[in-house]
Amino acid sequence: MPAIRHPVITYSGIGQKVEYDDPDSTLLDCSIANQIPHLHECGGNGRCSTCRIRVLEGASNLSHRTQKEQQMAEFRRWDPSVRLACQCFAKGDVTIERLVWTSSEINKLQLETVPDGVAEERAIAILFCDIRNFTKMAVENNTFDMAHVLNRFYTIIGDPILLNNGVIYQYIGDEIVGLFGISGGTREKNCRDAARAALGMYYAIEQLNHMELVDFDLEIKTGIGINFGRAFIGHLGHPKHKQLAVVGDPINTASRIQNFNKEVNSRILISQSVYKSVPEGTFKIGNEYKTRFAGHEHESQLYELKGFQEMDIQLELQHSLDYIFSNKERFADKFYQRVFEKAPEVRALFKKNMKDQGRLLTHMLGGIVYSMSRPEHLESGLAFLGKSHARYGVTREHYPVVLSSMMETIEEELGDHSRPYLLKAWNQVLIYVTDEMKKYAS
Ligand code: HEM
Ligand code: FES
Repeated sequence: MPAIRHPVITYSGIGQKVEYDDPDSTLLDCSIANQIPHLHECGGNGRCSTCRIRVLEGASNLSHRTQKEQQMAEFRRWDPSVRLACQCFAKGDVTIERLVWTSSEINKLQLETVPDGVAEERAIAILFCDIRNFTKMAVENNTFDMAHVLNRFYTIIGDPILLNNGVIYQYIGDEIVGLFGISGGTREKNCRDAARAALGMYYAIEQLNHMELVDFDLEIKTGIGINFGRAFIGHLGHPKHKQLAVVGDPINTASRIQNFNKEVNSRILISQSVYKSVPEGTFKIGNEYKTRFAGHEHESQLYELKGFQEMDIQLELQHSLDYIFSNKERFADKFYQRVFEKAPEVRALFKKNMKDQGRLLTHMLGGIVYSMSRPEHLESGLAFLGKSHARYGVTREHYPVVLSSMMETIEEELGDHSRPYLLKAWNQVLIYVTDEMKKYAS
């Protein structure tokens, strides 16, 4: 009898070919079974769109769109080559390309919800961050490699926007503008996200000053202004070159609030509309100011943002991510070593390449920190992970072993940066993650 030939899935980009030997598995299942990193924030529920692929060859060998996928494709104006890997099955050979590579790219998907050719009014939080004299300083100081410094600077101030579900609207010289809530979210969440991003930027710059720039006798100063209000958003411009445009008084006011930092020598100022968006006592506030901006009839009340009154888990996690994952391979090695020492029988459950497994684990942990700013998908994502772990033979008893091994590894990797608050935040989130996964274990 001739051997059955299974369809072959080719992953362009990495040039990997894998056999699709289970007709009941989706293309996403196929990636996971073959240790190919493939984002799937909602856990294959057709809701998050992060598993999207472009079909380069063999589109007719895929199952038709499910109703969920059809609705998403219409809403986001996809062409027929874009498919959801968690919603399609292969009947023959296909070549695909994964379209979202990292968690930090996910926020950009919000732009698909912005209307094309017209502007729509949406309530958003707007953050302006100005790095005083930074490029000037870098140009004048020829000890720096300019490209390196600029890239580092954009990463440092851009990351907190992305980690908090914000979209980077533009970079103008030494200034970056972030938008929070362009595809929805409550007023409170969008303002909290923007405030957390501002504090993250401030801490990152402080760290840069104390660690990397201290030898150069340089100090970077930031000025951040946040406002909340209704602005007009659309993809506008020449038909051949449309770009995201955001216009309205709240935008101009955010820019002026940022500028006002210079007058009072503050670092982060928020408007009254931001202040009022969260329950009283959420923010730690310093000085308060009154000023009248050009074109406004009334005085504006501004508040100096110093932090959150209570520990903000997300801020703590975001703050520590760079230290914990400064060497992901080392983290994974140490972690698995601990797990196998504590529970030697677990070793046999790992059938595949441990190096790739380590990469998938750290990728997933980083992704969880990112997806905390989009909590609507977190629970279903963890349910999916919990179910797959039950299939791998993982039982309830294994979870505490992993939890303690992970906490010990985190503490070790944090080294001098370890603080009780930070460890408490990680412990809290890992308890949540393992509790959710455990629900599906025997
Ligand atoms: C914080 C909780 C955990 C996270 C974030 C996590 C993450 C992952 C990820 C991302 C994968 C890759 C495959 C997939 O996505 O399904 C995986 C596979 C796996 N995990 Fe976990 N895991 C956790 C807990 C555990 C526990 C408690 C055990 C048992 C001791 C375990 C054992 C395994 C095994 C056996 C595999 C499959 C490896 C293979 O097929 O060779 N994991 N895990
Ligand atoms: S839409 Fe496929 S994983 Fe979320």
